[in-house]
Amino acid sequence: MADSDGVQESKNYHLNIPQINPQTTLKGCNSLDWGMKNRLSKIFRPETGRTVMLAVDHGYFMGPTTGLERIDVDIVPLLPWADTLMCTRGVLRSMTPPSYTNGVVLRASGGPSILKELSDEEIAVNMEDALRLNVAAVAVQVFIGGEFETRSIHNLTRLIDAGNRYGMPVLGVTAVGKELTRDAKYMRLATRILAELGATYVKTYYVEEDFETVTAACPVPIVIAGGKKQPELDALTMAYNAIQQGASGVDMGRNIFQSDAPTAMIQAVNKVVHEEMKPKEAFALYQELKNR
Ligand code: 5RP
Repeated sequence: MADSDGVQESKNYHLNIPQINPQTTLKGCNSLDWGMKNRLSKIFRPETGRTVMLAVDHGYFMGPTTGLERIDVDIVPLLPWADTLMCTRGVLRSMTPPSYTNGVVLRASGGPSILKELSDEEIAVNMEDALRLNVAAVAVQVFIGGEFETRSIHNLTRLIDAGNRYGMPVLGVTAVGKELTRDAKYMRLATRILAELGATYVKTYYVEEDFETVTAACPVPIVIAGGKKQPELDALTMAYNAIQQGASGVDMGRNIFQSDAPTAMIQAVNKVVHEEMKPKEAFALYQELKNR
């Protein structure tokens, strides 16, 4: 109400904007739209800005990988500790309970099996089906330096265009061919190209030397793949070092589902990623949970 001079006192309603779900800002993601950010918050835990993605998408080119023969029996019990499940639409529809409400990252590229040239991939999922499945992101493999490099980049950019239309984040996965060296120089090249072309976030491998230069040069979040099965302490150390050097999480498969005790391992990985638990402590936790 105005006073006799026509001056109105403000109740400061305009300053009192409730902060709904305060969220750690994800690197390079500030300008994204609400829907895209909402989907990302099903992948990156809002309190920490980090993620434990459980990768079980290996079957799309490797068939029934060791540890993934029975996803319904062996993987579903691990879901309470996964921020996100990364899988194919076949596994999602046939073996994943629809009551699962955390994020799903859908493998959206494919084509060749392990018997053929792996870079010869095409887009394997229509954006409409990804929306129907209510997933949090789609993932596409990009083969920088590979035989079908340009096609794989085109797969990425077409998915990004479709994803931008509907608010669907796209995870660009840097695939490392047998003939390419896995060093920081290559990882910087690959991750930066994927980010520049519009990937919402990028998956790469951890490298022992100069990994920090990879995360520093990439303007969007990086998650690391677990890679081949290693002893549990080594895998936990790799995850710890990657987080310390700027990774926003892990997308770990074999080092969890091929572990002697996958439930214990995923819990230990969770502690390393979200609570920065030191590797030896996390390994002790793994052993304790395993023996329980
Ligand atoms: C397969 C993938 C996997 O999701 C990725 O490699 C993570 O799994 P792992 O930890 O077993 O390496 O992209 O192409």
